[in-house]
Amino acid sequence: MSRESRPDGGANVALLEAMSLTKTFGGLAAVKDVSFKVESGSIKAIIGPNGAGKTTLYDLLTGIYLPDEGSVVFQGRDIVGLATHEITALGIARTFQTIRLFPEMTVIENVMVGLHHHTRAGFVKSAFRAPSAMREEAWMREESLRILDIAGLEMQADNLAGSLPFGQQRLLEVARALATKPRILLLDEPASGLNAYETSELGEIIYRLRDMGVTVILVEHDMGLVMRISHEVLVLDYGEIIAEGTPDEIKGDPRVIEAYLGSELD
Ligand SMILES: Nc1ncnc2c1ncn2[C@@H]1O[C@H](COP(=O)(O)OP(=O)(O)OP(=O)(O)O)[C@@H](O)[C@H]1O
Ligand SMILES: [Mg+2]
Repeated sequence: MSRESRPDGGANVALLEAMSLTKTFGGLAAVKDVSFKVESGSIKAIIGPNGAGKTTLYDLLTGIYLPDEGSVVFQGRDIVGLATHEITALGIARTFQTIRLFPEMTVIENVMVGLHHHTRAGFVKSAFRAPSAMREEAWMREESLRILDIAGLEMQADNLAGSLPFGQQRLLEVARALATKPRILLLDEPASGLNAYETSELGEIIYRLRDMGVTVILVEHDMGLVMRISHEVLVLDYGEIIAEGTPDEIKGDPRVIEAYLGSELD
């Protein structure tokens, strides 16, 4: 990565900026003229009823879909049109709403797959056990354990991913995303299916990430978690932004209350 592509560090420079993003599917605007900024080091939540366009927005930010209009600027660089792996390499990682682990691999192997982005040897050479690859494998194991520790999963390192309880599988998804060493992490409903204890653990993990300098975007239906940990909340409804502000501002916003009919904000 060139030095020029990392102009962050200045005051009020957004780490990530979405500008007038629009994506339609057969006439339906899933995301419509959406613009927002994410400041470095912040935790920004994106909420909205089912079908509001949250996941589609993530798909636009991570290169899965090309927007019909608009751009995505990350660290001062327009990333629209880059391949998903190029976007990952620049420092944007995500988790998915439905768990996408390798269930037949161990917990630590799932993390090591993500780390392969950062090793010189890569998969081919490590298959032949070249000495440098063995050193790298030792490094990768150590590094993966460190990442698992952040997610509270180091004790599970050698268990099969598919054997973990659901809540821990969700945390492993977060750990695997962290292995790519992101500047920003996009979480898609990470608390979905978690019990109250696991959700509060997740909140602690997100704080830990923030302290480590990882910026977080949180798409989440659990309003308790959103209101507790977010600096700013963006509210989508039918693909459009209907409100943006601090958790307290959002809670009292009539348009937000109407969109949710009061239900989830209680
Ligand atoms: N590949 C697709 N083809 C057609 N329509 C799609 C596609 N992906 C999403 N949509 C539609 O776009 C709209 C936004 O969907 P999206 O999944 O982004 O919502 P969401 O806010 O993530 O919802 P949820 O909270 O249920 O996850 C929905 O009406 C959905 O049916
Ligand atoms: Mg979704």
